[in-house]
Amino acid sequence: MSSTIQQERRGGPPLSATVRDDFPFFAADAPGAGLAYLDNAATTQKPAAVLNALTDYYTHANSNVGRGYYQLSMTSTERFEAARETVRTAIQAGPQDDIIFTAGTTHAVNLLAATIGRKLVGKGDRLVVTGMEHNSNLLPWRRLCEESGARLVVVPVQNDGTVAAADFAAALGPDVPLVAIAHVSNVLGTVNPVRAMVAAAHSHGAYAVVDGAQAVPHGRTDVSYLGSDFYCFSAHKMYGPMGTGVLHARSGLLTSEPPYQVGGGTVKAVSSRKPVHYVGGPARWEAGTPNVAGAVGLAAAFDYLGALGWDAVRAHDEALVRAATEALADIPAARIIGDPAAQPSGLVSFVMTGIHPYDVGGHLDKQGIAVRCGVHCASTFLDDLGLLGTVRLSFGVYNTVEEITRVHDALRTVRPGYWTSEQPTTRFV
Ligand SMILES: Cc1ncc(COP(=O)(O)O)c(C=O)c1O
Repeated sequence: MSSTIQQERRGGPPLSATVRDDFPFFAADAPGAGLAYLDNAATTQKPAAVLNALTDYYTHANSNVGRGYYQLSMTSTERFEAARETVRTAIQAGPQDDIIFTAGTTHAVNLLAATIGRKLVGKGDRLVVTGMEHNSNLLPWRRLCEESGARLVVVPVQNDGTVAAADFAAALGPDVPLVAIAHVSNVLGTVNPVRAMVAAAHSHGAYAVVDGAQAVPHGRTDVSYLGSDFYCFSAHKMYGPMGTGVLHARSGLLTSEPPYQVGGGTVKAVSSRKPVHYVGGPARWEAGTPNVAGAVGLAAAFDYLGALGWDAVRAHDEALVRAATEALADIPAARIIGDPAAQPSGLVSFVMTGIHPYDVGGHLDKQGIAVRCGVHCASTFLDDLGLLGTVRLSFGVYNTVEEITRVHDALRTVRPGYWTSEQPTTRFV
């Protein structure tokens, strides 16, 4: 059977300790030397393989794509299209599926909401999301509902951080043309049973959009197995460059939709007297000069992770999540939110009783430990959880169990500080 993030969580050798050496950011004379960087769900550091691919592209192939009738431009186009094929293979997309380069997950979801979303979702319809969505997979749909007169239905998250299959199924119906769900929660690390959720949506005739931003870095992605209609992710969360992402669309779904943005590269023919003819395929969705180097860098990131071995990446994640849950269990005031060890996805969220999350984050920062604390761009979810915020440890391939021991030791000395006493209810989005 094809593998997914769920199935790959056990087995495989752990990653070698020398992986950290692949990342110039952690070199002895670099800012990351000695830093326990545990905010990988926000963005990851970049290995030399990715940095070199970017430099190589700009040094040896830089020119615009798809427009130039000269060798250098054709080389650039070839590299861009080769990157597309690398992504296609890496996420196991079909040969006719669209692999569209975007600026990231947020851009991809907005593109969908403004095009196929507007076509499918109308007055009186319901659009289903889960209660754990990041703002980027919530607000575009919320706005679409406000504009169209549809109703946004939020399927609640249970105490263990999961969505009950029965609740999700109950939300579906003939008036639901589209569902939008996270593959992995960026707040709790919950792995949603996407294949089953997509199948349930399809059985009611709904299209399924999946936000894979937190899933792709942690396991081999198989969009064919998942069955999703649209799958979105960001390069920078998987060791690739910022400003690059992917929208995967199942074959034929976007072919005849009007483009999201129009401009150079999207047209077959333009004359002042006749209607504009737009190209098909991914170029229809990539108006203007695309981020060619970003695509090349993303392909290099997939190659890098493939060479490390996805099984090893998963085993590494699992070891770190296990170590973190054990470490936190030893801190009396710490309470883990959700059940991150159930299906480890490189992320553990917790709160400290009586201490504002920013005081915890600030204390860790002073010990050379970088974590994210707050609402993680999901304030509605944090409201539902009844929490001001959490402290989030999120892991990458270069993190070590020793760094988690450092977190443990630092948490033993954290005390209520400025935020707890002066701004006890303040939080930022
Ligand atoms: C689950 C999830 N979706 C979407 C996003 C948005 O990604 P980007 O800012 O790269 O567009 C994030 C970023 O944290 C995320 O965690």
